[in-house]
Amino acid sequence: MLAGLLLLETLSIGLFGALMTRQQTQRVRLRARQRLAYEASSLALQSEEDLLQDKPSLIGVSVRMMGEGPTVAQAKVTDPAGKMLFISKGDASQAALGPAERAVIPLLQQRLPRCLTLPGDQWECAQAIYTNGTLQGYAWVEYNKALSQELLSEILSDTALFGIIWIVASGTLVLLMARSISRPLAVLHRGTRALMRSPESTAHFPLPVSVNNEFGDLIDAFNRMVASIDEQRAGLRDTLSLLDSMLANAPIGLAFFDRRCRFVRVNQVFAEITGLPLTRHLGRTLPELLPQPEAQDLEDAILRVFAEERPVRNLEVSGHTMVPNSGSGASAASVDKAAKVSAASKLGRTWTWIVSAYPVWTTPEQVRWAGVIVLDATDRKRSEEALRKSEKLAATGRLAASIAHEINNPLEAITNLLFLLRNFCQLEDPALNYVTLAENEVHRIAEITQQTLRFYRQSTLPTRARMSDLLDSVLSLYHGRLHSINIKVERRYDPQLDLFCFAGELRQVFANLVGNSLDAVADGDRLLVRASRSRDWRNPAQAGVRFAIADTGSGMEPHVRERAFEAFFTTKEVTGTGLGLWVSHEIITKHHGRIRLRSRTNASGKPSGTVFQIFIPDVPPAVAEEKQPAEIATA
Ligand SMILES: Nc1ncnc2c1ncn2[C@@H]1O[C@H](COP(=O)(O)OP(=O)(O)OP(=O)(O)O)[C@@H](O)[C@H]1O
Ligand SMILES: [Mg+2]
Repeated sequence: MLAGLLLLETLSIGLFGALMTRQQTQRVRLRARQRLAYEASSLALQSEEDLLQDKPSLIGVSVRMMGEGPTVAQAKVTDPAGKMLFISKGDASQAALGPAERAVIPLLQQRLPRCLTLPGDQWECAQAIYTNGTLQGYAWVEYNKALSQELLSEILSDTALFGIIWIVASGTLVLLMARSISRPLAVLHRGTRALMRSPESTAHFPLPVSVNNEFGDLIDAFNRMVASIDEQRAGLRDTLSLLDSMLANAPIGLAFFDRRCRFVRVNQVFAEITGLPLTRHLGRTLPELLPQPEAQDLEDAILRVFAEERPVRNLEVSGHTMVPNSGSGASAASVDKAAKVSAASKLGRTWTWIVSAYPVWTTPEQVRWAGVIVLDATDRKRSEEALRKSEKLAATGRLAASIAHEINNPLEAITNLLFLLRNFCQLEDPALNYVTLAENEVHRIAEITQQTLRFYRQSTLPTRARMSDLLDSVLSLYHGRLHSINIKVERRYDPQLDLFCFAGELRQVFANLVGNSLDAVADGDRLLVRASRSRDWRNPAQAGVRFAIADTGSGMEPHVRERAFEAFFTTKEVTGTGLGLWVSHEIITKHHGRIRLRSRTNASGKPSGTVFQIFIPDVPPAVAEEKQPAEIATA
């Protein structure tokens, strides 16, 4: 731009100079011609006078004097025929008029000067010389062009000097302007382009402020604007990081949906709740990812949020995850067993979500998304269910105990009456047999009530208990079921074996284990219950009792084995709470014992079955103060 300005300046000055020169040249030429005509007239008049005074020789003097003038190159006087009479420089006899001069002679009859241009751009003026009306000759004056050339070059050099001064002055002005306008503009331009190229980078800022005028203020304002944008961007980044980390780490499931009920964003917890990878959600709808009708319930809630622009709170949605059946089915006999455990797993686990949906406003008028908060209430539901069941069991137990207690009184009376009857001397032998049979049955009833009462009464302090009694009571509890599916029970324990323990709680452990075995076995399977004095398999110095509950049932898949001791983990969706083994482990921990599990299904081709081994140290309570979680070993 500056170069353009300078060029324009030079051109205009050049044009101005050329015009000036042309005008001056014309003026110089005009004045030169006028002067030449005047000089030709004055030479003619002088000659006339000299002739009238009859002093023709003075004409020669006048010619020479004229020739001496600064503007005259040559002065001449000829006769009417054009013959040279006098000449200012040179010899008149040798000089003659040129053809152009001769050609003009016929035109010089009036007493007026006439100018002509000779070859070589020489100017000459001529005038006729009359005395008393008689043509005496012609006066010729040739112009000294050197003078006008000199004049012209003077004008030219003046113009050039003026032009140079003008250009230097305006160039300086332009440079000064450049410093205060163009440079700041260029800096602003560079800054704007840098900002457009990489809006995130502020490496080029702040822009240098080199001038102290409006443009300097403009750059300053620009710098402040960029700094404020950067600050706002940093604030936005911080807010986004906060939101991102909230979304990622919130212990609740969060998801956002657009108006077409498609996922636009979900967090990890939500993905874990749905059991699908995070990326599979985006762009999909709920019915594409979750089973019906639960997906529809959720979608209806989201649509309601968009329609009513109000939150929907605490919606309880329950359903099942669909898990492919993993039963092995190697042989016909084993299919039957496996089916018992895996039938429930076809439906997968039951889940319960507490869902709240709310509108996300991007402008005060527009609900752009619907946010959904999901709380996985599955465990809470199960706990409630388990609590309900255990309360029911406890109530049933209390009822059974009170019935057993009430039965004891009439039972005592019957026993006494039978005793009196036996000693009644008039009884015959068959009648005595009946009395014996009745005594036996009453004795059995008494045993059952005793066991029922023992089962219910929990001792708060550990006592030395006989293990055979404890295991017998558990087996007699399941007597009916064991008998009905024809299970062969092997009892291998010393009737005198005793152990320092919370007998009621240990009984609960064995009841859980035997109950699990009964759920896993099929017709004709075997159940082994063993107890013997032994040493801790990890710490041989520790004496105690080792128990084994083994069955030839369906066994456990590796993933079931891994999670069997987790609270609420069950494959018996409808009938199980998944608390049996967890509670058993807690009780064993309380006794400072260990539990070991070995199990396999018939997938390997070998017979299936499960073995639980338990070690309980035989120590008085004072020694066993510290409570460490019981070690679990599974294989
Ligand atoms: N003897 C066994 N044979 C095969 N599987 C077993 C055996 N014992 C436990 N399991 C598996 O371990 C899971 C957890 O057992 P646990 O006793 O903790 O819960 P549950 O029996 O399912 O329910 P609950 O005992 O509360 O009624 C069972 O669901 C079952 O799949
Ligand atoms: Mg169980």
